[in-house]
Amino acid sequence: MLSWEQLNETCQACRQCPLAETRHHVVFGVGPQNAPIMLVGEGPGEQEDLQGIPFVGPAGQLLDDMLSLIGLSREKNVYIANIVKCRPPHNRDPLHTEQDACIGYLRNQVALLRPKIIVCLGRIAAQRLIDPGYKITQQHGQWVEKAGVAMTAIYHPAALLRDPSKKPDTFGDLRAIRSKARQLCPQVYSSSSL
Ligand code: URA
Repeated sequence: MLSWEQLNETCQACRQCPLAETRHHVVFGVGPQNAPIMLVGEGPGEQEDLQGIPFVGPAGQLLDDMLSLIGLSREKNVYIANIVKCRPPHNRDPLHTEQDACIGYLRNQVALLRPKIIVCLGRIAAQRLIDPGYKITQQHGQWVEKAGVAMTAIYHPAALLRDPSKKPDTFGDLRAIRSKARQLCPQVYSSSSL
């Protein structure tokens, strides 16, 4: 297992899949390296590729608003990463071969972070981390435990922007994440009025 610094350096130099040819930046991850909650998206979009930071485009703004609703933030208690660290051209889904080339880096991040809770953002992350047959419309908000980590998935914020009728379901899922966090990592809320 690599340290945070070694892992970041390795990712920055990675050429293990063709996404390296078209990327502007490797999008490693953001958040405190001791965050008890980890969020995992599918892969960087245009803005993320240009800036090298996950979820900084329109979906990222919504994600930050969603986190703030339940007293969480990437500054304080949430680490955010993706299944693949380089942008798939035209924002297509990352191929299985690209995911396979990159997933070891995410696993190393999980091993370093040792989060209590992992929230998959959207179908691609849920199928990769929870179950290959995961149906996001039917299973979002359900909890499973894997290797001592409580895991769930919610709709991807980009899906909420495309289809706001999914927002009420997501509010419910966010409240459940807050309850789970109160239970598993109460320090997150210890100095807050929530
Ligand atoms: N969508 C993702 O899945 N990840 C990002 O970092 C940005 C948009």
